[in-house]
Amino acid sequence: MIPESFIQELLNRVDVVDLIDGYVPLRKAGANFAACCPFHNEKSPSFTVSPSKQFYHCFGCGAHGTAIGFLMEYSGLGFIEAIKELSNRAGLQVPEDEGWKPHDAPKITALTEIMARAAKYYYEQLKRSDKAISYLKQRGISGEMAQKFGIGYAPEGWQNLGDAFDDYTINALQLAGLVIKNEQGRLYDRFRDRIMFPIMNQKGEVIAFGGRVLGEGEPKYLNSPETPLFEKGREVFGLPQARAALRDKDTAIVVEGYMDVVALAQHRIGNVVATLGTATTSVHVQKLLRQVDHIAFCFDGDAAGRKAAWRALENSLEVLPEKKSIGFVFLPEADDPDSFVRQHGSEAFERMIAQATPLSEFLLRHLASNCDMNSAEGRARLVAEAKPLLGRLQTPLLRLQLVKRLAEISGFSQPEVERLCDLRPIARSAPAKAPKQKYSLFPRLLRLLLQRPELAKALPHDLIPTNSADARLLKQLCETISTAGDPTPPYAALLERMRGSESEPALREAAAELMQQPFAEEEIKAEFDGAIARLLEGVNKRTFDVLQAKAQKLGVAGLSAEEKQHYLEALAARGRPG
Ligand code: UTP
Ligand code: MN
Repeated sequence: MIPESFIQELLNRVDVVDLIDGYVPLRKAGANFAACCPFHNEKSPSFTVSPSKQFYHCFGCGAHGTAIGFLMEYSGLGFIEAIKELSNRAGLQVPEDEGWKPHDAPKITALTEIMARAAKYYYEQLKRSDKAISYLKQRGISGEMAQKFGIGYAPEGWQNLGDAFDDYTINALQLAGLVIKNEQGRLYDRFRDRIMFPIMNQKGEVIAFGGRVLGEGEPKYLNSPETPLFEKGREVFGLPQARAALRDKDTAIVVEGYMDVVALAQHRIGNVVATLGTATTSVHVQKLLRQVDHIAFCFDGDAAGRKAAWRALENSLEVLPEKKSIGFVFLPEADDPDSFVRQHGSEAFERMIAQATPLSEFLLRHLASNCDMNSAEGRARLVAEAKPLLGRLQTPLLRLQLVKRLAEISGFSQPEVERLCDLRPIARSAPAKAPKQKYSLFPRLLRLLLQRPELAKALPHDLIPTNSADARLLKQLCETISTAGDPTPPYAALLERMRGSESEPALREAAAELMQQPFAEEEIKAEFDGAIARLLEGVNKRTFDVLQAKAQKLGVAGLSAEEKQHYLEALAARGRPG
């Protein structure tokens, strides 16, 4: 656990505007800064950064967060890694605490430097190896592509990296996955006599390698192990190289192999990334759908490729938003994208991508292929098999479409399919209810407190009821602020405190609204006093309702003297106009 006080200190020290500006050039827009959103494809800037609140928000895709959140989203870092990275920048030492052992773990930056140096070394070695160059040539890869992807060569021999590093024995080389210690304690290079493909994060930093044997041999590809820099299920190969083409085409083509990416790039198809010998994860899909609106999975034409496509479908369902689409390309049995494009050319490949099978069709076709559609039992089974998949979808439109198609092919009616699949309505997303919220008390008060957290201390918490979600969120925020002590944490720190809690999404939404329409400084006091008055009114009304119910049931005589006085006073007050 990293102490919360440290996180707060960190957020105080770094400026989110500076940080983001280093990745996405910002320009001034009123009190805030704006840019085209780095997390989705857009032409006019809806990505906004608030210097006073120290957070960013995209009105287009809803991406939102603090400096920590930005690094996590943009660089694909974990929470701890993001904190480490920010601490490095701010010149702060992350405090040691239980389960937190920075003493033997070299800093992320040190590992990143090691990987960069190794990549440079392998790249230089490629130029000196006729054997490696002719292997790439024979596979149709030009020097230009080798340069674009930083392709290198790890020479034969056991301790070549000793030439690249002053000290071959440092622990960091082993931690980076480049050097292995055997049982006798001898150190040797992991990668020997292999073509080296550097795997980079979004920033273009090398975080791992994949190394291919030059001819036949096992394993065909040797990959870096997972390290503090490299988590397989989060990363793809080719992302920084694909960035411009992704923006241009608004589609990401996902393939299985390093060579597929490079060969397609060689044929001027640049919007391609590869998963790293693992199934496509929902993290992969989310990451890509932030940059493009469409994904086309194009796996090998063999049985393994079709299986990989199905896994990709399963892992996409939960994270597929409305207005984005996912398609599947099935290559001829013996082909992979590399062999296909080399044999048939880029136009034929682009045609395959344009004619990709939509996710819904692939889903139904795959399920139907396992059921006997000629029997009633088989058709019922189809619906049963579709049930868990439909349940994962978050998009009402796509679900409706699937339900309709399922009804058509199963012979059940649409309501029957819905009932069989136990489908409940999907909660509508925020925008629909936003206008109503604008004028209601609790969301308004919530925004007021986000703008001026110290007001929470002047707000009697017991005035806040617990009978609505909005009110409960407000109460929770008040409590978070009061227990945080002095000085009152600014909004960014509050958001980090509530990270992962149930309230986080609602809080983000309120903050986004606030960013668009902050309260003017001079109206804050009047707003707050007005809100307190309405809260008091609410308390009085609830008391009155209880008394009235009691009076109706027992008669006024059934009330105690005190209750009777309250009741009569309240009745009189209610009779008064205004
Ligand atoms: P493939 O076996 O389909 O290889 O593995 P490929 O991409 O067609 O490679 P070439 O054309 O023979 O050079 C697809 C991907 O699976 C992972 C690699 O990421 C590879 O690119 N893989 C495969 C491994 O990690 N290890 C292996 O031994 C084989
Ligand atoms: Mn291949």
